[in-house]
Formats: sequence, structure tokens, C-alpha cells
Amino acid sequence: MTITLRREEPSDHRRVEVLTREAFWGMSGPRCDEHLLVHRLRTADCFVPELDVVAELGGVVVGHVVYSRARVVGPGGEHPVLTFGPLTVHPAHQSDGIGGALMKHTLAEAGRLGHRAVVVYGHPDYYPRFGFRPGAEFGITAPGGRTFDALMALALVPGGLDGVRGEFHEDPVFQLDPDDVAAFDATFPAKEPAVPTPLDALDGPAPAVFDALRSHGVSALEQVYRFSSAEVEGWDGVGPSGADELRHALRERGIRWGAPGRPHPTAEDVTPSR
Ligand SMILES: CC(C)(COP(=O)(O)OP(=O)(O)OC[C@H]1O[C@@H](n2cnc3c(N)ncnc32)[C@H](O)[C@@H]1OP(=O)(O)O)[C@@H](O)C(=O)NCCC(=O)NCCS
Repeated sequence: MTITLRREEPSDHRRVEVLTREAFWGMSGPRCDEHLLVHRLRTADCFVPELDVVAELGGVVVGHVVYSRARVVGPGGEHPVLTFGPLTVHPAHQSDGIGGALMKHTLAEAGRLGHRAVVVYGHPDYYPRFGFRPGAEFGITAPGGRTFDALMALALVPGGLDGVRGEFHEDPVFQLDPDDVAAFDATFPAKEPAVPTPLDALDGPAPAVFDALRSHGVSALEQVYRFSSAEVEGWDGVGPSGADELRHALRERGIRWGAPGRPHPTAEDVTPSR
């Protein structure tokens, strides 16, 4: 079936919120707040209406992305950038190219509209396929100076990130009060809180991989999303083969994580230590 991309219309609002809730439920806690974020973004000053886009399959909205204005604040001053999110594809239609189609279309459109760069917090092994690189490579950090691979940046035009250094700040609309989230969520059909999947539900990775995950504060499988495979590979006792074992084991449980195509080392790959 053909994917159709178009601007979101008011008649899509509730459907988009419903699919956002479905896609994010249980991802970073028992429930989620992204459906309220989508709801609030549409009326926020930072909202970019031209980049509020839905994906339709057979006339049904199954995907959505929304962009907002953000800032990088550093010694050289304040730099306007775009950010995006939530990016959502309904769980029944994930891995069919819909997220990719939404990203490619809206990034091209953002450049055409004259925006220069995008900075985002997101799945660190998903967005590099669209050209995103860790923010640290450009001197872009989270507030407080922290760097991690889930903070990524992309220049939309040549030189779009030149001189853009400092701390990334999203619009305050991203800060949601849990009571507001609960009240908004109560307007949707009741949904059981998701139960986090304990690490020992995984079969396959060596014990050292579990130890490394625990020592980095990962106590449930869903929390692995915070880290890129490069970060996990760099942890003591993991390495490329441990990260690969983890990726395969997660995939067997329906959790897509990591960058594929890293072969297990063979005997020939292993350089004898002296
Ligand atoms: C993440 C999401 C937007 C991707 O959209 P999609 O339509 O499912 O993805 P696409 O079909 O464009 O791309 C599929 C590929 O991306 C990979 N991928 C998807 N999520 C990934 C992740 N978190 N980490 C690494 N790779 C990921 C898939 O494994 C697949 O790879 P393959 O082609 O090698 O098999 C979608 O799965 C989604 O809505 N997830 C729930 C909400 C969410 O996490 N949103 C993004 C928050 S940053």
C-alpha cells in the first residue's frame, strides 16, 4: 500500500494523539506523556505548522511527526535550531518505512523552508541513517554540559552547524506536569500500565553484558533505548560481540535497538595480545 504524507489537519488531532499513546506506552515508564505533548505543541509558540505531518496508509493515519523551535545557547550566543518529536508510527505498522518516509520528507522540507539545523534527543541508532551525528561532535551538549549519543544534531544546509556550540534547550512546553498528563490520559480509553521487562527475561547475552547494563542503571529492557550500541560496546566486558548479542536478544523480544551489521569477530579478527 502507498504511504501518503500530508500536513496534519484538525480532524486528525485525536487520531494522532491516540496513535502517539499506543506507540509510546510503556517506553520510558508504565504509561507515557507524549500524547499530551503533541496536544500542547500544536498551540505552543514554538510550533512549526508546516512540519506537522501525518502519514496515511489506505486513508488511515498511521504515523506523525511534529517539529518545534529550540535553541543552542553557548559562549558565541544563542542559535535557533529546530527539534522534532514525538515521531510516531502505529505499532502495527512499524518497520514498514513509514518513520523513514516522514523523516526524509520533513527534513527536506525544513531545509527548503530555510531552517539550518536540527538537534534532537532520540534513539541513537535510528537517526544516524538520516545523517544525524552525536551532538558532542559539534560541541552541542544537554543542559549542564552532559553529552551522550542520544543527543544528536544534523545540519540541513552546508555549514548549518558552524559555530553552533553550547547547551541545547527545548521549549518549556516539553516540561509536562504529571498531574496534567494523568488528567489528559483519563480522557482516553482505560489502558493497563505497562510492566517493565526485567533484564533476566533476556536469553543470550553473556553475564558480563548484564553486569554492564546494571552498572549503567539499566534495570529493564526498555531502558536500553537510552544508549547507542557504540556506547554499550565501550562498556567493560561488552565489546562489539556483547552488543551484538544484546541486539539479537532484544530483537527476539520485539525491541529494536542497536545498529545491525556488526559481525561477530572470527578467530582471524582477534589480534593476539603481547
Ligand atoms: C522509531 C519509529 C519512529 C521508527 O519508525 P518505523 O516506521 O518503525 O521505522 P522505519 O520503517 O523507517 O525503519 C525501520 C528500521 O529502523 C530500525 N529501528 C527502528 N527503531 C529503532 C531503534 N530504536 N533503534 C535502532 N533501530 C531502530 C528497525 O530495526 C528497522 O531496521 P531494518 O530496516 O534494518 O530492519 C517507530 O518504530 C515508532 O514509532 N516507535 C515508537 C515511538 C518511538 O520510539 N518514537 C521515536 C522516539 S525518538
